[in-house]
Amino acid sequence: MFQVRVSYDQKPYRRALMETYGGTCVASPSTETNAGRQILAADPNSNGSLGIAISEAVEVAATNPDTKYALGSVLNHVLLHQTVIGIEAIEQMEQAGAAPDIIVGCTGGGSNFAGLTFPFIGQQLRGGKKVRVIAAEPAACPSLTRGKYAYDFGDTSHMTPLVKMHTLGSTFMPPGFHAGGLRYHGMAPLVSHLKELGLIEAEAHTQNSCFEAGILFARTEGIVPAPEATHAVRGAINAALEAKKNGTSPVILFGLCGHGHFDMQAYMDFMAGKLEDRMYDQSALDASLAQLPAIAAE
Ligand SMILES: Cc1ncc(COP(=O)(O)O)c(C=O)c1O
Repeated sequence: MFQVRVSYDQKPYRRALMETYGGTCVASPSTETNAGRQILAADPNSNGSLGIAISEAVEVAATNPDTKYALGSVLNHVLLHQTVIGIEAIEQMEQAGAAPDIIVGCTGGGSNFAGLTFPFIGQQLRGGKKVRVIAAEPAACPSLTRGKYAYDFGDTSHMTPLVKMHTLGSTFMPPGFHAGGLRYHGMAPLVSHLKELGLIEAEAHTQNSCFEAGILFARTEGIVPAPEATHAVRGAINAALEAKKNGTSPVILFGLCGHGHFDMQAYMDFMAGKLEDRMYDQSALDASLAQLPAIAAE
C-alpha cells in the first residue's frame, strides 16, 4: 500500500491500523516504482501527493497480473456509488420534517461531496426544491476556485486517461497541510461540470480556520471531525453566521465525512498554535498549468 509521504510521517496511527490488518505500507514517492524513482531523483525530499501515489499504485497494478487497483475518488462512477449518502440523507431529513436550503461538503476528489449533494441536485433538476450547494476546499490546494477547467491527467506520471476537470495541473505539489485527503490537483468531472453550469458554488478555507471550526464542533456536538471534514464544518458555520447576520434561518445540511481520531497530532499542533496556513505557490501553479496536455489549449 502506498501512503503519501507527508501523511506517512504525520499520521503514524493510520499506518499502524493498516499494518494491524496485515497490510504493508510504503511512503510515496518510493523507490519501488519507476514513477516514484523519477520523482525522488528530481526531489529526494518530496512530500508526495495523491497524484504521485496514484501513479505508483497504477504502475504496480499494471505490471503485476495478480494486482488490481480501485480508485477511491474522482471518477464519476465512484461519485455515483457514494450517492447512497444523499439518498439516505433525503429520507433522514424527511423523518425530521425538514428539507435543506443549503448543503455543504468538503472536496478532495469530489466523492463525499457528490455523494451527499447529487441526489438533492437531482431533485432540484426534476422540479424539486432549489438548494444552495457549497463545495468547501482547502485554500492551499484550490482546484475548484483557482484551477483551470481543462483536460488533464488524474496522476502525476500520466498513466491515467485524460479527464475534463478543474485542475491545478497534474504536477502541482500542494504544501503539506493536515487535510491529506484534500491534497489532490483535480476535481471529479461531474462536480467540475456542475460548477461550470452554476449549480454549485465553491469556497476555499485555510487550515487554521478549519481546525477552529472543528474544535467548536467537537465541543458542541462531542464528535471530533477529520481534518478534511472540518472544511465542511467551516463552510456550514460560515453559512449559519451569514444567515444570522441577514436575519434568516435556513436549514443547513453538511457532510461529516470522517472522524479525526487518527489526526489528533494535527489538533495538538493547532491548540499549541503551531499550525501554519501555508498557501500554494502561485509561480508553481503557473508552471504546473503551463504543462497541461496540448489538447487543453485547443
Ligand atoms: C475523511 C475524508 N474526507 C474527504 C476526503 C476527500 O475525498 P473526496 O473528495 O473524494 O470525498 C478524504 C480523502 O482521503 C477523506 O479521508
